[in-house]
Amino acid sequence: MTKIAVIVGSTRDGSFNKMLGELAAASLAAQGADVTRVDLSTFDLPLYSAALEAGAFPPDALRLKTLFAGQAGLLFVSPEYNGSLPPLLKNAIDWASRPTGDEGLVALTAYRGKAAAVMSASLSPFGGLRGLTHLRQILSTIQMLVIPEQVAIPAAYAAFDEQGALKDALPASLVDMTTGRLIAVAKALAA
Ligand SMILES: Cc1cc2nc3c(=O)[nH]c(=O)nc-3n(C[C@H](O)[C@H](O)[C@H](O)COP(=O)(O)O)c2cc1C
Repeated sequence: MTKIAVIVGSTRDGSFNKMLGELAAASLAAQGADVTRVDLSTFDLPLYSAALEAGAFPPDALRLKTLFAGQAGLLFVSPEYNGSLPPLLKNAIDWASRPTGDEGLVALTAYRGKAAAVMSASLSPFGGLRGLTHLRQILSTIQMLVIPEQVAIPAAYAAFDEQGALKDALPASLVDMTTGRLIAVAKALAA
């Protein structure tokens, strides 16, 4: 089974990205993936600092890095903040990018050579597209292969029904298309 983690960049109660992440996780599972949902509120991650890192690597940063390292693919579902990604998510990505133990400076064991995909839901008419562009660039920098398919849900306050499903068929089909390709690419890269 292809292991995929779904990381949501919002911990807000009622978060639209949590809803989208849940749909994507269900879609991944329906297509045969072994899915781990990553709720960043359950990780005690201080703001990255070299001084902290030099003292003792935070246990939850290591836990997150180890979780990522055990996956074939990562799916990031995140809001856009001021045209970029939220600091919550950037900080988590940064901690898990750091070498631990005997690793070299750019070992990138959590990321290198793995598949990634990105999704966003936002209040704006643009669906968080600018944030997704930044996220793609970051994931490429840490040597992930980011698939071209993506999902950006605009006007998220009107996009979901009371059960948390997407009301429109087109974005719902894009979720399945993106998760399907993520599984295929993650499997091929792990082979
Ligand atoms: C600091 C901050 C900056 C934001 N900047 C943007 C933005 O640039 N583009 C956008 O579409 N929405 C922006 N928003 C609004 C988010 O789309 C909205 O808060 C959304 O509900 C966040 O996702 P969530 O529901 O998953 O928490 C911003 C929100 C905050 C708190």
